[in-house]
Amino acid sequence: MNRHIKNIFLGFLLIFLLIQIIQPARNIDYGKVPSTDISKVYKVPENVQSVLSQSCYDCHSNSTHYPFYSYIQPLRYYIEKHIKKGKEELNFNEWGRYSHRKRISKLESIVHQIQQKKMPLTSYTDLHPETKLSEKQVEEIVRWVELMQTENKE
Ligand code: HEC
Repeated sequence: MNRHIKNIFLGFLLIFLLIQIIQPARNIDYGKVPSTDISKVYKVPENVQSVLSQSCYDCHSNSTHYPFYSYIQPLRYYIEKHIKKGKEELNFNEWGRYSHRKRISKLESIVHQIQQKKMPLTSYTDLHPETKLSEKQVEEIVRWVELMQTENKE
């Protein structure tokens, strides 16, 4: 390797090592399922809850299951950004704190997002293929949401 290329390579290596020091707080809540979780507020059948837990809770709850590579920067930064944004928009653990109006609007939004295949994010399903929703799973969630909408009409 000529010296010039070697120095550039070492420079990148040094930057890569240095950014590893930046490790933001992780989204982990070691407690049990909180009393404000959607499953404590609504009747959520097991098949629906398991899909939500597996495919949505990593970004839409207070507990993320972090794969080993999520600790490697700059990946860490992007992952944490998605979690923060996802949680702000919708947090299944905080459903009990949502107003009636907010719940109705989020239920509508869930149907919209999964029917349009916008959720879970493709950047996520590419790395976790098992979280991709099948047609059947989408249908089951949509049917459950419709039931919740009728049961919770004011
Ligand atoms: C990898 C992280 C991630 C996963 C997994 C994920 N989401 Fe999201 N979700 C986001 C982010 C980030 C946003 C904010 C909007 C955007 O960037 O598209 C969002 C937005 C949403 C919204 C819009 C909320 C609003 O206010 O209208 C809904 C609904 C939603 N997600 C539902 C789901 C459902 C249901 C699943 C599981 C089937 C899921 N998401 C899985 C990250 C995620």
